[in-house]
Amino acid sequence: MVNLTLLLCLVLGLCFSCRAEIKPDSNNNALDLDIVHYQPEQVHLAFGESVLDIVVTWNTRDNTNESICEYSEYSDGSKLDQVVKSAQGPVRFVDGGAKKAAQFIHRVTLPQLKPDTKYSYHCGSNWGWSAIYWFHTPLNHSNWSPSFAIYGDMGVENAASLPALQRETQLGKYDAILHVGDFAYDMCHEDGAVGDEFMRQVETIAAYVPYMVCPGNHEEKYNFSNYRARFNMPGNGDSLWYSFNMGPIHFVSFSTEVYYFFNYGMKLLTKQFAWLERDLAEANLPENRAKRPWIITYGHRPMYCSDDKEYDCNGQLETYIRQGLPTLKWFGLEDLFYKHGVDVEFFAHEHFYTRLWPIYDFKVYNGSAEAPYTNPKAPIQIITGSAGCNENREPFSKVLPEWNAFHSNDYGYTRLKAHNATHLYFEQVSDDKDGKIVDSFWVIKDKHGAYM
Ligand SMILES: *[C@@H]1O[C@H](CO)[C@@H](O)[C@H](O)[C@H]1NC(C)=O
Ligand SMILES: *[C@@H]1O[C@H](CO)[C@@H](O)[C@H](O)[C@H]1NC(C)=O
Ligand SMILES: *[C@@H]1O[C@H](CO)[C@@H](O)[C@H](O)[C@H]1NC(C)=O
Ligand SMILES: *[C@@H]1O[C@H](CO)[C@@H](O)[C@H](O)[C@H]1NC(C)=O
Ligand SMILES: *[C@@H]1O[C@H](CO)[C@@H](O)[C@H](O)[C@H]1NC(C)=O
Ligand SMILES: [Fe+2]
Repeated sequence: MVNLTLLLCLVLGLCFSCRAEIKPDSNNNALDLDIVHYQPEQVHLAFGESVLDIVVTWNTRDNTNESICEYSEYSDGSKLDQVVKSAQGPVRFVDGGAKKAAQFIHRVTLPQLKPDTKYSYHCGSNWGWSAIYWFHTPLNHSNWSPSFAIYGDMGVENAASLPALQRETQLGKYDAILHVGDFAYDMCHEDGAVGDEFMRQVETIAAYVPYMVCPGNHEEKYNFSNYRARFNMPGNGDSLWYSFNMGPIHFVSFSTEVYYFFNYGMKLLTKQFAWLERDLAEANLPENRAKRPWIITYGHRPMYCSDDKEYDCNGQLETYIRQGLPTLKWFGLEDLFYKHGVDVEFFAHEHFYTRLWPIYDFKVYNGSAEAPYTNPKAPIQIITGSAGCNENREPFSKVLPEWNAFHSNDYGYTRLKAHNATHLYFEQVSDDKDGKIVDSFWVIKDKHGAYM
């Protein structure tokens, strides 16, 4: 009987019920399965309009026509009884490369969640579901102490910080992650396949904790299309700039790349600058600053050159980010951030870690000689671009500038815990030294606001 069934099945070619057709690809050296791909992958989270609106993004190679998330308060996952279905459905994204590889990006918002609550969820469609993941919502007021991991420049290859970040995220150590530009190296490579690989790698972090990003120079190709398609940051824009509030912090994310890639239009630079002015002015309204005293910015390329790269320093230690456009000096960010009392600024791009003394216009403005970061008289800048990528490390300038407080060439990432309105605590973790803390410091401020 069994043999007869097998024979019949072989004769009719019906052994496999899927409609797989195996054929060589164009190079004749690999097998390409002509099957549909409805399986969700690359699941990642971000904050939406508030930190209690969690946006889930994932993708499928083929169109499922549906984007659905099922979730509930934390459980074994057997009863994900709340359902959100995207009204818009999946959005087709075509990579700019030669193959014009297409995929479908799904986006669903889990709205108005309960604060300080652990949730289980999975996403997909009736054609297939992701694994069940969990996340823990933040509180929705300023009186708590959120923790962050912050880094830039992490690629698919040599992602030195990834194992530690995976472990610590799974242990619930962070309330959000900030990836300060330069992903995958590069997301557009191999017709977007490197982007897919990167997003699968960081799913082990980003499916559990909001993964907040800003664009770097490695995202530039095809007008930042991979970045814009794959990430959904707060606001109605395309994630190039946005802000959000968490605990006692107002975070501002922006694109340093609008200062460099004018081939995509000068308009982006002027639009972003106007937005930054408005956003910072609003954050500084007395009632807002009282609630969220800390203003922390993150953008990819630093204001101060700390290595000898011509490209960034224009041969004279000068950056467009700091000063604005060459000659004209328009749209410089140092004056803007100084005027609006930004407390701390994160950058990346240089593949190392650097802590600066409080600085404005090349001059150090310590709080005092004994306690430089207690009531500093200028913003504090940190460069954290050493999470690891295939471009390896970068050497620090041979001559240490006066503003250099500490630097390390170890691979690693930064931790921030915002204790309260007056105290921030920072640590630099070294992957080379097995998680050893190679730098730590407190920033203490009795009052916040413009420095001048
Ligand atoms: C999605 O919709 C298109 C157009 O209506 C249809 O051709 C396709 O079969 C649908 N796909 C699925 C998975 O239902
Ligand atoms: C956040 O907190 C405020 C004030 O406590 C409350 O009115 C609001 O409903 C909360 N938002 C959500 C989404 O729970
Ligand atoms: C690049 O994309 C931005 C949106 O992020 C758009 O405003 C701009 O016009 C685009 N530029 C070009 C040259 O396509
Ligand atoms: C700032 O403080 C540090 C640490 O005390 C000190 O080494 C440095 O010289 C100070 N810089 C200035 C300009 O006071
Ligand atoms: C703020 O946090 C610091 C460090 O944990 C602590 O010493 C200080 O007492 C806190 N301040 C208030 C007002 O709770
Ligand atoms: Fe970079």
